[in-house]
Amino acid sequence: MVSLRFLLCFLFVSNVYATIVSHDGRAITIDGHRRVLLSGSIHYPRSTPEMWPDLIKKSKEGGLDAIETYVFWNAHEPTRRQYDFSGKLDLIRFLKTIQDEGLYGVLRIGPYACAEWNYGGFPVWLHNMPGMVFRTTNKAFMDEMQNFTTMIVDMVKKENLFASQGGPIILAQIENEYGNVMGPYGESGKAYIKWCANMAQSLDVGVPWIMCQQNDAPQPMLNTCNGFYCDNFVPNNPNTPKMWTENWTGWFKQWGGKNPHRTTEDVAFSVARFFQRGGTFNNYYMYHGGTNFDRTAGGPYITTSYDYDAPLDEYGNLNQPKYGHLKQLHDVLHSMERTLTYGNISTIDFGNSASATIYKTEEGSSCFFGNGNEKSDATISFQGESYVVPAWSVTILPDCKNEAYNTAKITTQTSMMVKKPNEAENTPSTLKWSWRPENMDNFLLKGKGESTQTQLFDQKVVTNDQSDYLWYMTTVKFKKRDPFLGKNMSLRVNSTAHVLHAFVNGKHIGSQHAENDKFNYVFEKDVKFKSGRNVIALLSITVGLANYGAFFESKPAGITGPIFITGRNGDETIVKDLSAHKWSYKTGLIGFESQLFRTESMSKWSVESVPFNRTMIWYKTTFKSPLGNYPVVVDLMGLGKGTAWVNGNNIGRYWPAFISSENGCDANCNYRGAYHAEKCLTNCGEPTQRWYHVPRSFLNAEGDNTLVLFEEMGGNPSLVSFQTTRVGSVCANVYEKNIIELSCDGKPISAIKFASFGNPNGNCGSFVKGTCESSNNTVDILTQECVGKEKCSIDVSTEKFGAPDCSGAARRLAVEAIC
Ligand code: GAL
Repeated sequence: MVSLRFLLCFLFVSNVYATIVSHDGRAITIDGHRRVLLSGSIHYPRSTPEMWPDLIKKSKEGGLDAIETYVFWNAHEPTRRQYDFSGKLDLIRFLKTIQDEGLYGVLRIGPYACAEWNYGGFPVWLHNMPGMVFRTTNKAFMDEMQNFTTMIVDMVKKENLFASQGGPIILAQIENEYGNVMGPYGESGKAYIKWCANMAQSLDVGVPWIMCQQNDAPQPMLNTCNGFYCDNFVPNNPNTPKMWTENWTGWFKQWGGKNPHRTTEDVAFSVARFFQRGGTFNNYYMYHGGTNFDRTAGGPYITTSYDYDAPLDEYGNLNQPKYGHLKQLHDVLHSMERTLTYGNISTIDFGNSASATIYKTEEGSSCFFGNGNEKSDATISFQGESYVVPAWSVTILPDCKNEAYNTAKITTQTSMMVKKPNEAENTPSTLKWSWRPENMDNFLLKGKGESTQTQLFDQKVVTNDQSDYLWYMTTVKFKKRDPFLGKNMSLRVNSTAHVLHAFVNGKHIGSQHAENDKFNYVFEKDVKFKSGRNVIALLSITVGLANYGAFFESKPAGITGPIFITGRNGDETIVKDLSAHKWSYKTGLIGFESQLFRTESMSKWSVESVPFNRTMIWYKTTFKSPLGNYPVVVDLMGLGKGTAWVNGNNIGRYWPAFISSENGCDANCNYRGAYHAEKCLTNCGEPTQRWYHVPRSFLNAEGDNTLVLFEEMGGNPSLVSFQTTRVGSVCANVYEKNIIELSCDGKPISAIKFASFGNPNGNCGSFVKGTCESSNNTVDILTQECVGKEKCSIDVSTEKFGAPDCSGAARRLAVEAIC
């Protein structure tokens, strides 16, 4: 009887516990199968629920097994104990969409996320609780962290979404890269990590917990790696499979920064190398980056776009060739799943960074030939055959004989994306603007806010981050004969305001913003004070709160002072410190409070003489939704800095006036050699971000739509236009004996602009014929095969294209097709 009960219990447990870690640390085992897992990050609030099914479907088609997401605490608990899981925040709906598509989920609860998300995902009210210190053994912090984490786990359990309940979630995460910053926390940091592990374990989710970048992760936490390369990573326990939670597919962008680009060849190289060296789980961070709507961008200074140069672009389009080249890699890796997760591993070192790794089971062998040399190709002799492995690449041979894939040989099309004008109407010329000023009289002339203090406060403390905007106002009186009242007076503000607008007696005396990552600067302007009462009004603006580093929660924001008036009288300089003056505070702006951005807003707008280049002004217009279903963007070229709303939906902060510096771009980006965030940049000397995503679900397909802009620095809206983004042309440049597929993503190919079989040169958009070329009319052949079709598959062979004499060198087909 006892043994029967034991047996039943055992059976029950083995059924329920769907995800486990293989005891030899070789793989994650799901339902008894050791898996090679490819996963991709998609953060649900960075797109809309309407976009999720398509994004997840494309992820699956791209060869992913799993979708990973963070859970952003500040989004879900904006006010203490008041939760929001609506719309873009519908975590359960997102997880069910993953499930419906038949994919697994990886749930990174954190609840610290980082992620270039505002304040790393922490709510600012948490910071403002008495005695609070984040991410250490601080009772108040641990209580709140446990409360939120438990709440999320309970929600997910209630819906049976953990794999242990038959759901899609195979892994959960607690904390995030704490190991990178824990030094300054000392012993408390170590104790905190133990507490995190125990707390997570106590929640009994039935799937393993991850702690990324945590060398001292207590068992049974799985410590995992994040970075551009993780092939050298060794987990802190031999039973832990080698897992990569963040393979950065590109990088994020900051205001003033350039467009990051990590080459396809290098991402593929990093993945293949990781699996060559015993990896078992690779998650792309990001697979789809998306958009930081509203005030969710972290920082300071993260842009609204979080495109990340990911395989799916900001709007959900395929970023080719990255998407396709990785898909082929995934298919090859999956085909070797059994050998990779059970096989005996042996390695041959050929010197000069070249190596072969052989995975061998009784049924067969699979091989990786790696060449980590940045400059020279390697010739590898293996079992009587000779193989050339290009510099900085990995060749995969699922049978150890035939090359199925090389990370540097791209046989997927390159897609060139274009923006097309709104076909529903002729923008920008049809956009008729109305306007109204931001009402600032109370602040500029009266210096009157909602609270007063004889101290300068950090902005977070006053606003609870309910707004980007905080007024700091004070009144200074001068007697008629005050020695101060001379000609040479100035106002000096030591500022950590990301942006500062300063006014004296209602007059704008100047603005300044932090530049080049210096968020601590001195603003100084000459001012003419008058005798009697003077009102100083300083508008401090945050552009995303810090999200990374030890004790980042205490990084100052706003005007922390000191603030001085200086007067020079002859040789004498008199300084008046205003820091302990009576300061009046006002959070937010009137136009935000009265919700001028709402379509139903009854406020009066003027259509007469719409002013340009005026600060603190609201603009409004109506427009027709672009026809079709291509993703929509609004081009805000000409504007300064502010916030934009479409039909009341906040599409994020805009700042096209912020031009990135002229230097640092690399037209001849070389994929060989280690990638870093400053490599292969583009967009020098251009607006950091000109186009802003307007998800289709924010638009009325029929009738009018409203765009409202709050412009704080001054700009010209007359160039604003709505556009769609789509594939403009597709190219390929592949060697003979390959098959290349050309596709216009669901639309017919309209023409072949260039085609040459031989040794053509150049890149997509600038191909030119080489010195040898087939005498067959390549353009005609491809026109026949492709034009009018949504996709065509071309066998690049001499049978089809002829056999030009290229002096023995391998022949290539270069083609550019117009969509
Ligand atoms: C990591 C972090 C991620 C993200 C990434 C950079 O350190 O874990 O959340 O911030 O860096 O994009």
